[in-house]
Amino acid sequence: MKELFPLLAGDPELVYLDTAATSQKPKSVIERLERYYRTENANVHRGVYELSEHATRAFEEARRSVARWINASDKEVIFTRGTTEAINLVASSAGHLRLSPGDEILLTVAEHHSNIVPWQIAAQRAGAKVRYIPMTGAMRIDLDAARAMINPRTKFVALAHISNALGVIHPIREVIALAKKVGAWTLIDGAQGAAHLAIDVRELDCDFYAFSGHKAYGPTGIGVLYGKAEHLNAMPPYQGGGDMIERVTLEGSTWNELPSKFEAGTPHIAGAIGLGAAIEFMASLDLPATLAHDRALGVQLLEALTDFPNVKTFVKPGDDWIGIVTFAHASIHPHDLAAICDASKICIRAGHHCAQPLMEVLGVSATARVAPALYNSRSDIEAFLKALRKAEQLFA
Ligand code: ALA
Repeated sequence: MKELFPLLAGDPELVYLDTAATSQKPKSVIERLERYYRTENANVHRGVYELSEHATRAFEEARRSVARWINASDKEVIFTRGTTEAINLVASSAGHLRLSPGDEILLTVAEHHSNIVPWQIAAQRAGAKVRYIPMTGAMRIDLDAARAMINPRTKFVALAHISNALGVIHPIREVIALAKKVGAWTLIDGAQGAAHLAIDVRELDCDFYAFSGHKAYGPTGIGVLYGKAEHLNAMPPYQGGGDMIERVTLEGSTWNELPSKFEAGTPHIAGAIGLGAAIEFMASLDLPATLAHDRALGVQLLEALTDFPNVKTFVKPGDDWIGIVTFAHASIHPHDLAAICDASKICIRAGHHCAQPLMEVLGVSATARVAPALYNSRSDIEAFLKALRKAEQLFA
């Protein structure tokens, strides 16, 4: 697989184990971006000349690819800068529509900051309250607690499809079903999910699903918000500007139809087209086999880590786990370990993973995280283990 990824193919010594932060890009995506800028670049939805009309067609074709990929309709696919912007859009705009003093928003303690802070802001504005579903000792969502917490005041339930720090696939179907019983709207943070699992938003029956291009083999700066058309139609705009209006007068304005209503300003045209190429790449993969590969590398690492008495891991493998290994070391700070890995050209993430509340639950301030992907092999895990042994010698 490394041969399909120019950065990895060009540097055989590099061991990239940080795909949960961002994936490497396949040649087809890089070439598509280059082709767009070399031969197709023009603004969209504005020009009455062929070059601009061509760019518009390519941009809207990318939207159709996304829509087909997640089983949505084109008008339900809003291009955003990424998952973060998509969640902010919903928390702000749908929050404005639905939240009143005393209402509740239900999240989990394992959320990425992007799926906590926008809701805290929305809650503060409306006088609503954010509540958090706890985790079990096995670092899985406590569904019994969720059942007890959801109530008629719950207006939103938002959670990750897959935890970025733990690699655990959350039981979103069960949580969505619970939310439906009380009429709460559901938002799934698919930043990790969309890169690993086939997504069918109709079958999930979630109200919103957000993901980023860059974690799913696409460019940075482009993401997707799926929302049910009836909700998006009812919500006020998030940002004002060109393209999102139907008519502007000095007295006031009216809004364009979906999806333009939520896409103010010149969009990331190249990014969307690159995301279209990334989706073609994902469609060429056997996603379950890729997931099994990643999980096998995670298991290889977890088994090897049992020989390191100072290492504490937090998650046991299962069908609901994608192979991400997060751990703490009794005498090596994760940043020191990451720096030692870097000296051997091994990339891992160290820190709180934008999930400080989860770190509190784990009882640590930071962890080291190894996130294997389709272009990694058993030898990459062995290289990491060698660096860990070296770090132990240095810090002994
Ligand atoms: N959310 C990204 C990560 O988990 C940046 O590393």
